[in-house]
Formats: sequence, structure tokens, C-alpha cells
Amino acid sequence: MKVSIIGGGGLVGSCTGFALQCGGVAREIAILDVSAELAAGHALDLLHGGPSTADQRVTSGSYEHVPTSDVVCITAGLRRQPNESRLDLINRNTDLFVQILDQVKSAGLKPSAKVVVVSNPVDILTYVAAKRLGLPENQVLGLGTQLDTIRFCSLIADHLAAPPTQTKALILGEHGDSMVPIWSTATIGGMPLEKYPGWNGNTANQIFTRTKGSGAEVISKKGGAGFAVGIAIRDVIESILLGSDRILPVSTVQDGCYGIRDVALSVPTQVGACGAGERLEIDLWPKEMQGLRNSASALRPTLEAVLKRIGM
Ligand code: LAC
Repeated sequence: MKVSIIGGGGLVGSCTGFALQCGGVAREIAILDVSAELAAGHALDLLHGGPSTADQRVTSGSYEHVPTSDVVCITAGLRRQPNESRLDLINRNTDLFVQILDQVKSAGLKPSAKVVVVSNPVDILTYVAAKRLGLPENQVLGLGTQLDTIRFCSLIADHLAAPPTQTKALILGEHGDSMVPIWSTATIGGMPLEKYPGWNGNTANQIFTRTKGSGAEVISKKGGAGFAVGIAIRDVIESILLGSDRILPVSTVQDGCYGIRDVALSVPTQVGACGAGERLEIDLWPKEMQGLRNSASALRPTLEAVLKRIGM
């Protein structure tokens, strides 16, 4: 199956290409960028690694790749400054994003194509994409809090010197300042996190605060996040390509889960061959459920302003 990465010349896009190459699941990876030269350069660099990774095609170009793509991943957009919130980006990123959507639409998507939105603010732009592309809404998924979730697990694991792949802790809600840590379900090696040797509830807040600020921390240290974003995107795209039905916190337009509707944010979602499947409304602590509703309220004014601005 073929994956096109729009904005494939940027840090996030190129790391996504590399993560997909290392994953070896996609049959073709197409790097699309406004700079044809940069796209071709990244594609060539990936191509060179092919003999030691997987039997994939690597191509580059522009929207001509869209009609043959099974997944179109949109990473293009401006990056925020360390002191800006993702929602602050909306004024600068919306027009570009809408132009991209319109070009994708006029290039012609396969009826079964899935669109994975990564550009920020991802929850707002996922909603716009879901309403504007003309695809069934379950075929439009935002990366959402999958990135925050792996960052959260990585920092908990690092703090405890625990195995990262066996550290499970979710973040739901907005990929932004109102994201919600789900401590009630956190485990390591199948054991409740709070029973894990060395765990001290007093450090929980510090770890979550660092998770929430991780995007900004990486921007201030190296200019922008790339590797972990690429890996998080691979989690989502490979679950689609393989039809794995993994439960991932991706952002989709909600229709009543936890009482939330008509806004896109992340809840536990089955991700598979049809895109976003069932939303799992598992029992959470009341303050976690309240946190999710607060995320919806935090997103709504920006969403309404954006929809008005673009006449939707
Ligand atoms: C971050 C961007 C991708 O959190 O939102 O690094």
C-alpha cells in the first residue's frame, strides 16, 4: 500500500518517511513537498537505505501521487515558537492547510483513502479536513495525543528505569495545553503503576508537566520534534495498513463519546483498515472525564472562529 507524505521535506515529514521505511510495512513511500528538490533529496536518501531495510518503492513529487495513495499524511505547516501554544498557530496555518486540502481533493483521493493529519493545531485541522475533504469522516484521523502518549510513557519509564515498551499510560483530549493524563489505567509490565517499585505519586505531576511541555522543550533544544513524531505517525499509519485495529488515542470528530460531539479530539479509538473504528468509552476517574470535556471546551472557540473564517 502507498503512503504519501505532504510536507515530506520538513523535519516531521522526513522523519515520518524514515520511520515508515524502518517499519517496512508500506509498499511505496512518496515524499511530496513544495520544494521539489528537497522532496527528491529526501526520497533519494531514503532510497539509498532500501537494500538494508525493506522492499519498498520510494518516490517524490507533488499531488499527482494522491490518486494512487492509500494513506495521505499531511505534515505541512509552520512550526510554533517555544513560547507559542499550538492553538496560536491557527492564524498562520489555516489558510495553507485549506489550500492543501483543496489540492488533495481536486487531485482526487481513492474512495477508500485515509487521511492522517499532523499539522497543528491538529485537533482543529482534523475537524476541518473531516468536513472539507468529502471522505467519510472515519477516514480522517489526526495524530492527536498518540505523540503525547508515547512521550508520557517514555518519561515515566525513564524516571523508573522501567522498560519503555511495557510502560502504558495514556494521554487523551487535546494535543495541546488541555491534554489529560489518564493515571487511572497506567501500568508497567501489566502491574498498576502506583504499585511499581520506586513510584512516588509526588513526581507524577512533574512527569505530566514535562510531557505537556515536551514539544516546546524539543523546539527550544533542537528547533523542532522529529523522531518521536515520526514514530507516533508510524503507529497510526501501520495500524491502518495492516488492519491491526490497535486502540490508539487519535483525534477524530466526536459524536457523543464521553458526551462530546462536534469537535475533534483524542479518545481511545480502534484504528484499522477502515480508518477510525469504534471509540471506546471506558470508565475513567471523574476528574479525567471532566478533563476531556474541558479539552472540548478549550478547543471549541478556536474551532468556531476558524470555521467562520474559512466560510464553513
Ligand atoms: C509536537 C508537535 C508535533 O508536539 O505538536 O512536537
